[in-house]
Amino acid sequence: MTRHRISPTGPEFSRLVYGTWRILDDEDAANKTSQALLSRFKACADMGITTFDTAEIYGLYHVEEAIGGALKLDPAFRSKIEIVTKCGIYVPCEFHPERKTGHYNLTAARIVKSCEKSLRLMGVDHIDLLLVHRPDWLTSADETAEGLNQLLKDGKIRSAGTSNYNVHQFELLNSRMDQPLVTNQVEFSLLHMDPIDDGVFDQCQQQRILPMAWSPLAKGDLMKHEGLLAKAAELSAKYGGATLDQLAYAWIMAHPSCSLPIIGTNKLDRVTACVKAAEIQLEREDWYSLWVAAKGHGVP
Ligand SMILES: NC(=O)c1ccc[n+]([C@@H]2O[C@H](COP(=O)([O-])OP(=O)(O)OC[C@H]3O[C@@H](n4cnc5c(N)ncnc54)[C@H](OP(=O)(O)O)[C@@H]3O)[C@@H](O)[C@H]2O)c1
Repeated sequence: MTRHRISPTGPEFSRLVYGTWRILDDEDAANKTSQALLSRFKACADMGITTFDTAEIYGLYHVEEAIGGALKLDPAFRSKIEIVTKCGIYVPCEFHPERKTGHYNLTAARIVKSCEKSLRLMGVDHIDLLLVHRPDWLTSADETAEGLNQLLKDGKIRSAGTSNYNVHQFELLNSRMDQPLVTNQVEFSLLHMDPIDDGVFDQCQQQRILPMAWSPLAKGDLMKHEGLLAKAAELSAKYGGATLDQLAYAWIMAHPSCSLPIIGTNKLDRVTACVKAAEIQLEREDWYSLWVAAKGHGVP
């Protein structure tokens, strides 16, 4: 597993990132205990996946606490991994029944409060990378940057970035930062190709920062796509028996933006398959043939 400094001033992450959005969705309760989660996180780290992605809102504000429960069982493990979390999305939940409408809030005070909560719930003294989860249309870039700059100055976060920002939103917030933003985490897969066309990945290359790619299997939908399944069956033998999920990860990793796919499965054997995908080098025409299979038409 290769490791990458995600920006000239940013942290070093593993090429594949383990995503924790769904860790509490597992139907089998035995897979959600602190011990089971710690075992899975350690198995990922043993395979070289040392970077873990989470967010304040995951599991309706329960996932960070679950991660904290796992880390508490082996405090030394924290120093072997990098933690990415996000703040800014507030929806009605058991902790806040007074909230009636889901909304975004990236005011400075809210960012600081959320980050301090993340630190407390995960039982850690710093976050390696804090992302603002989605643009908050009601808050100025000055105000958002003030919160992030404060956390950087206090050492509570090592770096800051965005998620789901367009190129203009990224550039604006970046212009207000004391320390440059280190990534933009966006949706990217064979079934969601916007970042290669809307300028987001070009901006990342221009700034020499590596984006992070969420939902690399389109939340699992990709595995049901008939055109892609047929194309994968055709390409499989050429790539050592590769399956569609492996080809889909390899397709993401072949793009020159060098985005870091965030794996969403709760199944360790699927993580292992993903690690193997990191070795697949798709030939140019095969990369394009997957593009064609996903789009259902040839290149223009
Ligand atoms: N920044 C953002 O706004 C944002 C938004 C969404 C997600 N994220 C991050 O991205 C991570 C990944 O997102 P995601 O969970 O949507 O990723 P994904 O890989 O696109 O989808 C994961 C889903 O696909 C299923 N799956 C995985 N491999 C499969 C296979 N070989 N065959 C059939 N189904 C398969 C999984 O089920 P099993 O568990 O059964 O394998 C799981 O339900 C999240 O954990 C989170 O950290 C960020």
